[in-house]
Amino acid sequence: MAVERTLSIIKPDAVAKNVIGEIYSTFEKAGLKVVAARMMHLTTEQAGEFYAVHKERPFYNDLVSFMTSGPVMVQALEGENAVLAHREVMGATNPAEAAEGTIRKRFASSIDENACHGSDATDTAAQEIAFFFGDDGVCPRTR
Ligand code: PPS
Repeated sequence: MAVERTLSIIKPDAVAKNVIGEIYSTFEKAGLKVVAARMMHLTTEQAGEFYAVHKERPFYNDLVSFMTSGPVMVQALEGENAVLAHREVMGATNPAEAAEGTIRKRFASSIDENACHGSDATDTAAQEIAFFFGDDGVCPRTR
């Protein structure tokens, strides 16, 4: 199995619910280690650039507005098959379809405010980690 890194965002709805610690505990139980972290309040420009791939989607403006509505907690996670492992603990994009015990099932209220973001592949993970932490902002590999 490959040790990978992935980019994770705890979104404004989950930060407002004060569940950062519970979500970090979920990462740890899944074998995912935090190798970089920063809390920040995204600007419209930052959120718009991060979600530029969705620019033509009908929900783009609402997504940018939501992601700038309050602070987010951004982290890079490392572990065996981290991209998939993180997506599994997040659950389906729509919390109504998310499996029991997943972060979105436990903490998200709707597809528009769905508690967390995770990279969808190793190449996008590398781009997203660099977006928030730069090329040298992450700790050296832990193993
Ligand atoms: S899709 O439909 O498969 O392309 O969706 P996905 O790529 O998984 O996620 C798109 C991101 O937009 C957020 N978002 C929505 N998606 C679908 N429908 C609605 N109404 C919607 N509103 C917001 C969704 O949570 C994904 O954000 P991230 O942060 O990547 O999870």
